[in-house]
Amino acid sequence: SQCKAYRASVFHCIADPGVVGAERSYEYFEDGLLVVEDGMVVEVGRAESVLPSLSPEVEVVHYENALITPGFVDTHIHYPQVGIIGSYGAQLLDWLETYTFPCEGQFDDSRHAHAQADIFLRELLRNGTTTALVFGTVHKQSVDAFFERASKLNLRMIAGKVLMDRCAPDYLVDTAESGYADSKELIERWHGKGRLSYAVTPRFAPTSSNEQLELAGKLFKEFQGLYMHTHISENRQEIEWVKELFPERDGYLDVYDHHGLIGERSVFAHGVHLHDDECRRLGDTGSAVAFCPTSNLFLGSGLLDLAHLESHGVRVGLGTDVGAGTSFSQLQSLNEAYKVLQLQGQKLDPFKAFYLATLGGARSLYLDDRIGSLQAGKEADFVVLDYEATPLVSYRLKHSKSLEETLFALMILGDDRVVKETFSAGASVHRR
Ligand code: GUN
Ligand code: FE
Repeated sequence: SQCKAYRASVFHCIADPGVVGAERSYEYFEDGLLVVEDGMVVEVGRAESVLPSLSPEVEVVHYENALITPGFVDTHIHYPQVGIIGSYGAQLLDWLETYTFPCEGQFDDSRHAHAQADIFLRELLRNGTTTALVFGTVHKQSVDAFFERASKLNLRMIAGKVLMDRCAPDYLVDTAESGYADSKELIERWHGKGRLSYAVTPRFAPTSSNEQLELAGKLFKEFQGLYMHTHISENRQEIEWVKELFPERDGYLDVYDHHGLIGERSVFAHGVHLHDDECRRLGDTGSAVAFCPTSNLFLGSGLLDLAHLESHGVRVGLGTDVGAGTSFSQLQSLNEAYKVLQLQGQKLDPFKAFYLATLGGARSLYLDDRIGSLQAGKEADFVVLDYEATPLVSYRLKHSKSLEETLFALMILGDDRVVKETFSAGASVHRR
């Protein structure tokens, strides 16, 4: 068995700081030690107290001026959209037509898909993200490519083939039946294999017929532990369009609800313009919303009201939504999340922020028993953040008087440059 220890400052969230009472929401060890064996965390604590119990053969890797935290969790991202990040001048529906669909059209070519999956995964790991909920394209080979690459790195990843049988270019649509059959084939090939899970992935209500949504709901129930991943209430024109396409339904969420697409392991990206009754229904059913601040600002979609969602008990994770989002870095998502909430008179304190990017994301994905913190028994997915990554970060952190201030400076100033090393199941998968 392979045992190794990592010495640095260690910080991890162990509960939601917004809902805990007397309980502490995090642990911090200024001189900490993380002990990993066979890809799992076996112990975490103060170096002083853990070291004496460690067998002398165990190698201890010491990082100076660095912080070990759990790997980041990205609850909404599109792997085929790397090539269109930062495309100029459009809001959601134009952006889809002008940039997104032509880009996704190229993924019928499996070689292209493999190459893009490589670039995408390398970028995630460079940014310290070890788990993501990922859109493929409509082509089943796009998902094969993604899972093949993710499984080689032994990453905990969730992905699915896009279901889209209308209101999209001919080269990019499936049918209700082929979408169901292709998804089922992918589920049988990949779901539960190693650390991979499958997500039934209707793009959003406008691009699926009622027949397709019905079959998606049927599929969602057919296998244990499947996810459902889609978009909702991102943009006002989109919401109007859904009303026109589904006049018989009670609103956007009701379209998904009617077809059995909500509940535990259902993740809805954006939710910027959800109504009160929709938030309540999401909370009551254990569904989750992915908060994607860089995307919502970039496409001019709107400001997510986090306090409102949380008042209804909705699970909220953080998403980059690359390629509408403008950064792979969850630190940059937090930077923008802070400002989105500032504009609404809400505060995002750094403990809550890091919770959203780690354990809160894991909880949204019902994976908080496996990832999201560094407690013993969890999978050893972690990152080493470098306090001296850039002259500015270094200067700023030298003047920090508290952990709170340090974490806040990291989330405002940090990005891929502060990620010194990334570990997945105990193995180093990126090193700067
Ligand atoms: N709604 C439907 N498809 C998409 C997409 O690819 N990106 C975003 N941000 N919203 C969508
Ligand atoms: Fe998206």
